[in-house]
Amino acid sequence: MKILVTGAKGLVGRALVEHCSASGDEVFSYDHDALDIANAEAVESAIAARRPDAVINCAAWTDVDGCETNPEKAEQVNALGPENLAHASRNAGALLITISTDYVFDGEKEGFYTQRDQPRPISVYGRYKLEGERRAQDANARTIVVRTGYIFGTGGKNFLSNVVSWARRGQKIKAIRDYWGTPTYGRDLAVRLRELAVHDKPDIYHVVSAGEGASFETFTLEALRLAGLSAENVEVIDGDSLGRPAPRPRNSRLKCLRSEKIGLPPLPHWQDGLADFISRE
Ligand SMILES: NC(=O)c1ccc[n+]([C@@H]2O[C@H](COP(=O)([O-])OP(=O)(O)OC[C@H]3O[C@@H](n4cnc5c(N)ncnc54)[C@H](OP(=O)(O)O)[C@@H]3O)[C@@H](O)[C@H]2O)c1
Repeated sequence: MKILVTGAKGLVGRALVEHCSASGDEVFSYDHDALDIANAEAVESAIAARRPDAVINCAAWTDVDGCETNPEKAEQVNALGPENLAHASRNAGALLITISTDYVFDGEKEGFYTQRDQPRPISVYGRYKLEGERRAQDANARTIVVRTGYIFGTGGKNFLSNVVSWARRGQKIKAIRDYWGTPTYGRDLAVRLRELAVHDKPDIYHVVSAGEGASFETFTLEALRLAGLSAENVEVIDGDSLGRPAPRPRNSRLKCLRSEKIGLPPLPHWQDGLADFISRE
């Protein structure tokens, strides 16, 4: 396949470029410097020039607290960006896959969120990611939305991707015990993104690693156990004690109702992904 990847230097973007290249695809890889997805003209000309079979959007402004205090930028990148990509993909006859988030939900549900659940974002980040889903679907009927959450992997700037390296350096780690999600390994997500491109069945998919989910505390303790490190520097805290600008959903665990219907098995368990990640660090 000919696949154009945006946000190619982010956690998911890197894993995707590596996986597609190893699978023999022709990959057009655009990092933020090479292509700003908020720039409609630049997006149109890149996609028109490359004429890919699929565009996979891994670019986003993922700073949840930053989005809360700068909604204009959040809208430009996370809502207008996917819309620009959708217009250009439609004009080029390409499939668009755009990644969205578990933060489109409010976190009040007891169990897992499926595609039947009504999104109700409680943060600016979640609101504009949801708007990005809808604007992309409106602009190109051949759009696949992939909601995921609690991603970890090589190159990640987030908490889950860094706990082991912080612990190795003897740093203090504040692990939140009362917010839950479905941890998802970036490399396994990348494999599923490519499979969805091959299947080419526009819809909304929830893509997460297998398992019952975890709090930040559970994930941290498991990561340190697998890495053979002591948990003595872990302080267990309540999320609200951090006083972060953006509210987060307390429970944002996801489950997919559609993957099995198109013959895709569950992704590997997050603990297996975590073991693989640690062995590569
Ligand atoms: N990480 C998570 O736990 C998580 C959870 C749920 C959903 N997601 C979604 O998963 C997708 C991939 O996230 P990730 O974890 O790989 O995040 P990431 O590591 O922060 O990567 C995002 C990439 O997008 C780039 N970017 C930012 N603004 C851009 C723009 N205007 N144009 C082009 N590129 C831009 C960033 O570049 P710079 O750093 O140079 O700005 C960065 O390389 C995103 O859609 C995100 O919303 C992530």
